[in-house]
Amino acid sequence: HRHLLGIEGLSPLDIEALLDAADEAVEVSRQVEKKKGTLRGRTQINLFFEPSTRTQASFELAGKRLGADVMNMAVASSSVKKGETLVDTAATLNAMHPDIIVVRHHSAGAVHLLARKVDCAVVNAGDGAHEHPTQALLDALTIRRNKGRIQGLTVAICGDILHSRVARSNMILLAALGAKVRLVAPSTLLPAGIEGLGFPCFTDMRRGIEGADIVMMLRLQRERMHGSFVPSVKEYFRYHGLDAEKLSHAAPDALVMHPGPMNRGVEIASDIADGSQSLIKEQVEMGVAVRMAVLEALASHLPNG
Ligand code: CP
Repeated sequence: HRHLLGIEGLSPLDIEALLDAADEAVEVSRQVEKKKGTLRGRTQINLFFEPSTRTQASFELAGKRLGADVMNMAVASSSVKKGETLVDTAATLNAMHPDIIVVRHHSAGAVHLLARKVDCAVVNAGDGAHEHPTQALLDALTIRRNKGRIQGLTVAICGDILHSRVARSNMILLAALGAKVRLVAPSTLLPAGIEGLGFPCFTDMRRGIEGADIVMMLRLQRERMHGSFVPSVKEYFRYHGLDAEKLSHAAPDALVMHPGPMNRGVEIASDIADGSQSLIKEQVEMGVAVRMAVLEALASHLPNG
């Protein structure tokens, strides 16, 4: 593949190969000397039109650990603020001959559009409510390292599914690798027609996470709820926030995940986020490894790569 625009379009074999490579990158990242030279001489631009802590930092570290020259475009102080369009911004950056552009954008499909306008490899770091493929890959890596497999596990994805690119990419990836995915959300935060995709849907959280091996919580994305129903925080936490009592309905050895950033006391209780069943910090570590694996895979398709 020349780009990584989504999990959609990857085969189970593609996904497993990336997870195997990421497992090796974990070892590199844990060494005192963390550098490999696979991307030496290559230029990587991180172009983030939306805020990010984890994704941008880990793509920067991943590129640097592979020896690339990494440039973070400060969109807030760029000519985007003077009205330059996405297509013109892409053409401008393309003229500087980057090898890889990592893009986050608030509109679904914007990253695909940009990929058609540039000559280099493009990685989707999150586009609207569409896809966040490296998040799904790092979640899968975290699950595989802790449970030894993905096939046959019951994974409950809980919360604001309507606005979540993380949920979408995870649904596609986990189903492709044979997990049993359930969706758990208030009916106002389930996309219309989602039942047609074949995933069991629950509005009652205790029933939805009953016996689950993995409870994956999502952030309540209030910034995307323009004019639509915005639940009260107190009510949301009571019915859809993960606390010890609700988690007791999952499998006894269930593990808890959250892509971050977390709203403590909204979708997840602090003691659960920091508790012994939480994989949240490990997800962050796996983020660097997965992004190294993705950048290396794309580099092998670059000219003279
Ligand atoms: N999980 C995730 O994408 O986090 P950031 O928005 O901080 O990158």
